[in-house]
Amino acid sequence: MNVVLMQRSEAEHARFAADVRKGLSMPHKALPPKYLYDARGSALFDQICGLPEYYLTRTETGILRARSGEMAALIGSHATLVEFGSGSSVKTRILLDAVRDLAAYVPIDVSRDYLRRASARLAADYPALRVHTVVADYMELERLPIANGGRRIGFFPGSTIGNLTPSEARRFLRRAARLLGSGGALIVGADLAKEKDVLDRAYDDSAGVTAEFILNILDRINRELDGDFDRSFFRHVAFYNPEASRVELYLESTEAQVTHAAHESFVFRRDERIHVEYSYKYSIDGFRALAHASGLMPAQVWTDADNLFSVHFLDIP
Ligand code: TRP
Repeated sequence: MNVVLMQRSEAEHARFAADVRKGLSMPHKALPPKYLYDARGSALFDQICGLPEYYLTRTETGILRARSGEMAALIGSHATLVEFGSGSSVKTRILLDAVRDLAAYVPIDVSRDYLRRASARLAADYPALRVHTVVADYMELERLPIANGGRRIGFFPGSTIGNLTPSEARRFLRRAARLLGSGGALIVGADLAKEKDVLDRAYDDSAGVTAEFILNILDRINRELDGDFDRSFFRHVAFYNPEASRVELYLESTEAQVTHAAHESFVFRRDERIHVEYSYKYSIDGFRALAHASGLMPAQVWTDADNLFSVHFLDIP
């Protein structure tokens, strides 16, 4: 391992330790969801996307397949496609197949490894495509280090915007608009509010894969921060909160207990929860209003026959 890489991972390790210490010392305990995605977490998340109860991935993919021609027409010629965060490249490829004359494809991701592998695969399958990877957290990126390549079209699938609070979502939309620039556009997937039991099951599946995905963060803390969490004393709790229009995901302590990690101890009451993630659900009009309030112009929206999921094309004035 070279020195630069080692410094990076040491800094990441220190940040993980600090985030865990801080998150588990607050009156309402919480862990940042980005730590769900270690190698095992990412593999489990891929599995979630194929679960029968998790309708989001297949529904959004279906909308993109059915509407990619219309999207290509709105995107126009010689545009640069900018993807925010690591999506499954399956979705990106639907757009790449529909828009034949892109000036460039710019995937932004925090994971250098992910980007390297993804761009190698794309280079093999789309030899004419210019791929310009950007290693960055798209929530912190100030400008895009790319040369002019026509209008810039952002792509943010997977209802990842739903994992932000509405005010964070507005901040993301404003930032994305600034990065993409006037005359550009943003294609964003947003899951729709629906019956509680459908949403409850989507985030607490019968095979227990989502529970495993969330509990995996405790294994990661044990492994990387010398922790002693016993996952048999924690359980996955996920439910739709219709008043707040969001699915809430927690780890709940089944006993009163004291755990240790990162040289600190954490006291849990019985039934005390660690908040891990929200997944906000929108109405079509609600999402368009959010976009409008962030300075974007809702131009087109597509949904599936059952109104489960929505894909929005937002113009940047
Ligand atoms: N953005 C997706 C969603 O909200 C994926 C996701 C994020 C997710 N965190 C999750 C799925 C936790 C299941 C569990 O659905």
